[in-house]
Amino acid sequence: MADVPVNSKIALTGGLDFWHLHPVPEADLPSIMVTDGPHGLRKQETSASDHVGLGASEPATCFPPAVGLASTWNRELVGEVGVALGEEAKALGVGVVLGPGMNIKRDPRCGRNFEYFSEDPYVTGELACAFVDGVQSQDVGTSPKHFAANNQETDRMRRDSQVDLRTLREIYLDAFRKVVTRTQPWTVMCSYNKLNGVQVSENRWLLTDVLKDEWGFEGLVVSDWGAVWDRTRALKAGLDLEMPANPQHEAAAVAAYEAGELDEATIDEAYRRVSRIVRMAADGAADAPESFDVDAHHALGRRAAEHAIVLLSNDGVLPLAQDADVVVIGEFARTPRYQGAGSSRVNPTRLDNALDRLNEIAGRDLPFAPGFSTHPRKPAPDGAHDEAVELARQGGTVLLFLGLGEAHESEGYDRDDINLPAEQLALLDDILAVNSDVVVVLSNGSSVLVPFADKVRAVVEGWLLGQAGGPALADVLHGLVNPSGKLTETIPVRLEDVPSYVNFPGDATGVRYGEGLFVGYRGYDAAGRDVAFPFGHGLSYTTFEHSDVTATASGNDVTVSVTVTNTGDREGREVVQVYVSKPESAVVRVPRELKGFADVTLAPGESETVTIDVPADELAYWSVLDEAWVVEGGEYRIAVGASSRDLRGEASVTIEGDAPFRPLGLSSTMGEAMANPAFAEMASTLLGGSPFAADDESLGVDAARMMADFPLAGLAGFTGRSTDELQSLLDQVNAKSGA
Ligand code: BGC
Repeated sequence: MADVPVNSKIALTGGLDFWHLHPVPEADLPSIMVTDGPHGLRKQETSASDHVGLGASEPATCFPPAVGLASTWNRELVGEVGVALGEEAKALGVGVVLGPGMNIKRDPRCGRNFEYFSEDPYVTGELACAFVDGVQSQDVGTSPKHFAANNQETDRMRRDSQVDLRTLREIYLDAFRKVVTRTQPWTVMCSYNKLNGVQVSENRWLLTDVLKDEWGFEGLVVSDWGAVWDRTRALKAGLDLEMPANPQHEAAAVAAYEAGELDEATIDEAYRRVSRIVRMAADGAADAPESFDVDAHHALGRRAAEHAIVLLSNDGVLPLAQDADVVVIGEFARTPRYQGAGSSRVNPTRLDNALDRLNEIAGRDLPFAPGFSTHPRKPAPDGAHDEAVELARQGGTVLLFLGLGEAHESEGYDRDDINLPAEQLALLDDILAVNSDVVVVLSNGSSVLVPFADKVRAVVEGWLLGQAGGPALADVLHGLVNPSGKLTETIPVRLEDVPSYVNFPGDATGVRYGEGLFVGYRGYDAAGRDVAFPFGHGLSYTTFEHSDVTATASGNDVTVSVTVTNTGDREGREVVQVYVSKPESAVVRVPRELKGFADVTLAPGESETVTIDVPADELAYWSVLDEAWVVEGGEYRIAVGASSRDLRGEASVTIEGDAPFRPLGLSSTMGEAMANPAFAEMASTLLGGSPFAADDESLGVDAARMMADFPLAGLAGFTGRSTDELQSLLDQVNAKSGA
């Protein structure tokens, strides 16, 4: 490093251009390329470079975006997609894939939710780990993003996300913590926004204290594209690489170094981290193949899509017989909506639609009408609506493909509401007036309201399924694939029910994460609010029974087991979910939290006992008072089920916990003090003479309860004891209990 001039070292902390890093000939470092994105590569020519998906890119497999991948709840499959992405990256000469996107879906209006896994940090973290391990197994890097608390697109470059520390740790950082500590991603991408008043790219607490020091992150921190306002301040905070290149920022950093305002040690540290990753990428590229297996990856994309489709409701109309009398309505059947708009947009190697596959299965060309346009500003030709209604009137089952067009949800802006376009809802109403035999198939990147769910015979949520999603949908409709996806986001009854409703998206003063821990199902459950379809929900063409739920503890680690039986008449896959509650707690708790899941594929009549580990780590809460993760001792309830609101069995388990000893002080309350047995024993001595000491019914109140929130300092006056005297009694209590 010593032989590398400081200017070259500074140069390596910023890109060479939009997608490349600088070469450093003195250190024998080549230039490497990084590229979007989470579910397929977007390798652009330098001449077509942009970060919002407008310019052309080389063909690559478009796998299901995170919204679809997540609905598979299948770590192995997500890992396989990661491996395939790694292979494609290698073949295309890309050293780091800019993904996975792993922000929490705080609000369904976030325009970029399709690129994120879930409203829940557990499933997000688990699947992100599988993804990163998959890609990195190919000696290609990843970039979990956007770190952190970047949960909306509105004013995304500046908005201050105001999040309390416990919520931040438990909801918004935890999946990142998991992915960093378990998989050591090569890079982490810092987000555009501010976090609690500090621009994230300059947030030393986040990038250095937490990410690097506390979690032991060994890779480099790269900025989101254009997230750096001042390279010098960013380097000091722990950013290592500014993307894309910004020559002014580089010159200013050189000037800051020359003026003695930027230490060489800080530059060296960023240089060390970046050069290490460049070397890893260069080594990985050494055996790069010239191409990848386009067909095999397309087939993998189709398998992933098959696992991702969520059957929301079904009165028995599905699966359709091969020769069923059906008509197909909706442009999405012919022109699939299979990915989202913005930087993650892939130029697919091929694109299959549902209509062709439906025709293939039927062995004839089914009657089809597009009905509407998928673009909000390009209306369908006159007569399209009426033609579709006319087709529905002719009878048969109507397969109605509805959804959001590309322009309805995108990187860069949020949705104003979560309705399907009015034109499509009107079409549905008019169709129902002439034919009640309707199956709705949805394509959308984040939840939409489904007020029609009980007026139609089945609703299939197809999310965004990538380039091979169309045939997967057709196969599910016909039962050639038994659906097994489950929701990783709640579908609410009304937008107003969403826990973040009033706080989203804030204003120029910031966005308050006022719902705190009560994000997604945590919030709906706490408020006892009805939802259209709960987190974790998804039907199958077979049925499953969950029985014999047990939970056993070994230390503070818990192991859950459940027997799952396929009670129907076809093979199927069930995703078993474990939800943990802590009924008695010293801190605010949400009603239940997902802390484990496993999937099992069973033949008709077959049973399997599934074991799911819930390590102590997962039981911990972030204690703001102790500035540490704490596992409370006591009883935990473990519920196992097919969704967050379809819990089939429960067990309870008691653990000791690892709560740190908190000495009593004068600001401790009576309630806190009385919970300490040593204090309780001495209480009458301490309180001697005070009317509150008496367990006297004539007081007419529950004295103990009345005093519970009274700080001990305040008691000095009532008991006639001096503060010093009280303190020395507390010292004795502390010595006894701390020992
Ligand atoms: C996006 C990132 C993306 C980058 C490069 C940004 O606008 O937020 O997710 O990786 O552009 O395209």
